[in-house]
Amino acid sequence: PLSAMEQEDAIRQELGSLHGIPLFKCFIEGWPQVKAFQARPDDLLISTYPKSGTTWLSEIMDTIYHDGDVEKCRRDAIYNRVPFLEMKVPKVPCATGVEQLENTPSPRLVKTHLPVQLLPTSFWEKDCKIIYMARNPKDVVISYYYFHHMAKIHPDPGTKAEFLENFMAGKVAYGSWYDHVRGWWEKKQEKMLYLFYEDMKKDPRREVQKILHFLGKELSEGTVERILHHTSFQEMKKNPAANYETMLPTLMDQSISPFLRKGISGDWKNHFTVAQNERFDQHYQEHMAGSDLHFQMEV
Ligand code: PPS
Repeated sequence: PLSAMEQEDAIRQELGSLHGIPLFKCFIEGWPQVKAFQARPDDLLISTYPKSGTTWLSEIMDTIYHDGDVEKCRRDAIYNRVPFLEMKVPKVPCATGVEQLENTPSPRLVKTHLPVQLLPTSFWEKDCKIIYMARNPKDVVISYYYFHHMAKIHPDPGTKAEFLENFMAGKVAYGSWYDHVRGWWEKKQEKMLYLFYEDMKKDPRREVQKILHFLGKELSEGTVERILHHTSFQEMKKNPAANYETMLPTLMDQSISPFLRKGISGDWKNHFTVAQNERFDQHYQEHMAGSDLHFQMEV
């Protein structure tokens, strides 16, 4: 175990750069293993830009994989049930995402935030199924801002105004939101399902049906009902296996901001000034120009 001071050393570091993408230095250290990762044909990849509903989708997928047996889904924390591919915690002696995955029996669920061009080639070679979930950038930036405060792996976010500028400029971990959502959208193919957080909020039953169809799986109405209940914001917030409360408080301090913070669409309205919103809208138009990818900023 490390002293408090050694742990402090490992946190709030400046980001490094991985092939031009800003990323945690400890993740970059582990990159050779991630790049060489051996996917298995029955792996299912859950891919997202941070704060876009990764944990929500992960809990839904694990519950589907267990045919709605929600007790089985309490067997371990979500970050162990769905390992985070490129994760490497600084100094703390715990397994990397790759090591965790190597010890996970198939069929595996794999979480990543990597932009599409950095996905280990093995996932394409093995023709793995991929579910991408995107969320509107205004809610993402606010969620990411609060997350920076509580998850100490991030650099200090500065003021909300400063963070907004950094986010728009792509100077945050995983880089430009625009490049991320557009990059994955352009790779969309038969074996990829592209979902939206806002659709999941509006009609989770329909979205779960979409996932089941994509998996070629059928579940009874009662089972789907149980899955929807188990993966609702209220249920996940009080579920220790889903709410990250078992994470080391030196890494995530939930007293600053809970991991399951609000879970709504449109919270940005409580945070953006009128001027910030106008500026953001203009920036958004410029960066989404020519794309047929559209976002709902509220539901
Ligand atoms: S991470 O750290 O990137 O993996 O975070 P991620 O899980 O992608 O995003 C966290 C946000 O998702 C919200 N969340 C949910 N919303 C609705 N319903 C459910 N069940 C749910 N579970 C997680 C979570 O509250 C974060 O959003 P904010 O806006 O901060 O509340």
